Amino acid sequence: MSEGFNNPFTPVVGKVPLYMAGRETIIDDVDTALRGNGNDPAIISLLVGARGTGKTALLSHFADTAESVGWVTARVTCLSGMLDDILVRARRGASHLVDTQSHRKVKSLGLKDLATVELEDSKPELTNWRAQVEDILEALAEHETGLLITVDEVTPNVKEMTTLVAACQHFLDEGKKVALIIAGLPYGVTSLLSGESTPFLRRTARFELEPLNDYEVEEALIRTMADGGKKFAPDALAAAVEAVYGFPFMLQLVGYRAWRIAGGASTVDLDCVTGAVDIARKELEQRVYDAVWFELSDADKAFLAAMAEGSGPVRQAELAGRLGKASGHVSRYKKRLLQQGVIKERSRGVLEFCLPGFREYFAERIAEERDL
Ligand SMILES: Nc1ncnc2c1ncn2[C@@H]1O[C@H](COP(=O)(O)OP(=O)(O)OP(=O)(O)O)[C@@H](O)[C@H]1O
Ligand SMILES: [Mg+2]
Repeated sequence: MSEGFNNPFTPVVGKVPLYMAGRETIIDDVDTALRGNGNDPAIISLLVGARGTGKTALLSHFADTAESVGWVTARVTCLSGMLDDILVRARRGASHLVDTQSHRKVKSLGLKDLATVELEDSKPELTNWRAQVEDILEALAEHETGLLITVDEVTPNVKEMTTLVAACQHFLDEGKKVALIIAGLPYGVTSLLSGESTPFLRRTARFELEPLNDYEVEEALIRTMADGGKKFAPDALAAAVEAVYGFPFMLQLVGYRAWRIAGGASTVDLDCVTGAVDIARKELEQRVYDAVWFELSDADKAFLAAMAEGSGPVRQAELAGRLGKASGHVSRYKKRLLQQGVIKERSRGVLEFCLPGFREYFAERIAEERDL
């Protein structure tokens, strides 16, 4: 029975799900790096994925892991002012170990009792950002801990990224305990890699957040639903997996709605899932696809409109014909849209939409736009 249980699904942007579907390799690599001695490549990581694939949730997961093993964390978004933000958060996180306001370092720390901290005076001095972070790292090193910086939604236009990456490179070269995990949409990360920070970032671990496999979705749905005191009927589970289409946000939306519609029943049947999918689709459109739509250029839209003319996957050569463009144009926009996670290449030269229900959503939006 589900009485006394709360809805276990988390259709909330950036929320760490109760059960993380798939992503084992990346979690294993990064968690290992955070627990290790700083020599694992994943100590600097790039997470790349389309909207709603779980970038922010993974960043939060890693920051939580890091904190649980003693790291101080600074979780920021890639916006102008982010370096200040990192400093403020790092200081706040480290305040129980170091008196960051008066620039005094911790001299000794009673293991059981933080109140026994003794402080060593040193003169406050004007320093640049790197030196200020260095002070924090040195103070943390006395307690054999370090600083994890997570940067979400990397965009090409924030110059401070270059400073951050360069500083982290120096910190690592100097043997300091620092970790950096950057997440972004594919084009954001690609732009970052083509900038000044390229050589260093190319050496780091890069993880692509691909769509989840059906068996991963199935397992996550079953386990999460069980935590909410319910189980799926077999046909309901199959319908839910199909509707999710490997998309983490949709997994949470469908699960959340199905749990609610089932009410006091302990089994979620096909009717519940059918109703849940209808609502989930609309929510997905408002919360994710509208953002994807606004990121499309006119030429992207023309490309997708040509793709949407047929009913299924389409060959690149055929698209060139539909668009009346040369193959170079098709290749260029194919690359852009692959990078935005809107389409995928099913086999060489054969393209299809890759977000669940996006074709239908797109067709409606483009028709509205043409009617204006
Ligand atoms: N591996 C996963 N298994 C199950 N649910 C997940 C998984 N990853 C993320 N989610 C869920 O999917 C939703 C979207 O996750 P998140 O906000 O992290 O995506 P995102 O990639 O950061 O999206 P955006 O590009 O819009 O910022 C959240 O509700 C989260 O709980
Ligand atoms: Mg996000």
